[in-house]
Amino acid sequence: MYGTTDDPTAGRLPPVAIVTGGNRGTGHAITAELDQAGMEVWQLNRTPSGHPREVACDLSSTAALDAAVDQVLERTGRLDALVTNAVDRYFAPVAELDPERWAAALTVNLTSVVTLVRRALPMLRRSRGTIVLMGSHAGSRFFEGGLAYCAPKAALKALSEVLLLEERPHGVRTSLVSPGAIANEDGDTSSLKMTTRSVARVVRELITNPPDVAVGEIELRPAGLAPPVVSGLDRLQSV
Ligand SMILES: NC(=O)c1ccc[n+]([C@@H]2O[C@H](COP(=O)([O-])OP(=O)(O)OC[C@H]3O[C@@H](n4cnc5c(N)ncnc54)[C@H](OP(=O)(O)O)[C@@H]3O)[C@@H](O)[C@H]2O)c1
Repeated sequence: MYGTTDDPTAGRLPPVAIVTGGNRGTGHAITAELDQAGMEVWQLNRTPSGHPREVACDLSSTAALDAAVDQVLERTGRLDALVTNAVDRYFAPVAELDPERWAAALTVNLTSVVTLVRRALPMLRRSRGTIVLMGSHAGSRFFEGGLAYCAPKAALKALSEVLLLEERPHGVRTSLVSPGAIANEDGDTSSLKMTTRSVARVVRELITNPPDVAVGEIELRPAGLAPPVVSGLDRLQSV
């Protein structure tokens, strides 16, 4: 699945994945799922997780990201999957945006993703690998105070579409995962949120799908739904 006759690293197992923000939440669950799928997972973490293959990386620093990617790729010599999962959640009304926090959120939530993809593509082309971008409902359902979260998530839709056009001819598949609420905090058992493991299983599927299938975007919602505060035509007229 991961190698072809053109791939000089074909047959050298296990396949390698990079996951950002693997120390907790969904990134932690994605790491566990890919481990179970037999992949060698490398985490890029700001906060240490104790995972045997983690590299310290604050994604708000392009220099730190470059150094971390170099470290992983030099050691593995191959890459089969990239999962950009980390997120900097900064919420403030536009009128009150702090320029430094805004810049940091854009860097972590968008620029670091582009940097990682650009750095990973040569090896992903060789392995005919997969990119999974963690988006969000926030990328298409905008809300007050959400610009620093919504805008970069919306931009990931553009990134995924451009990559689908540019990189499928090189054998690289890109998927955008757009989830609703995930119970990312330890101890959250809300039936109105998806578990991190459930979301991680979808990410695993996207990476291990048959090689002739590219899933462009997958939108995920919790199966549970609370009674809506506003419904029907009133919902349409409430924005
Ligand atoms: N939770 C939801 O309801 C939900 C819904 C839709 C989409 N999503 C998306 O799913 C993905 C995972 O979300 P989550 O809720 O599981 O995340 P989370 O539990 O809040 O964890 C965020 C991760 O990003 C890392 N991170 C933040 N800033 C960083 C930086 N500057 N450098 C390196 N790492 C940094 C965090 O590291 P630290 O531990 O160091 O802070 C942490 O590992 C995100 O892309 C999110 O947008 C989540």
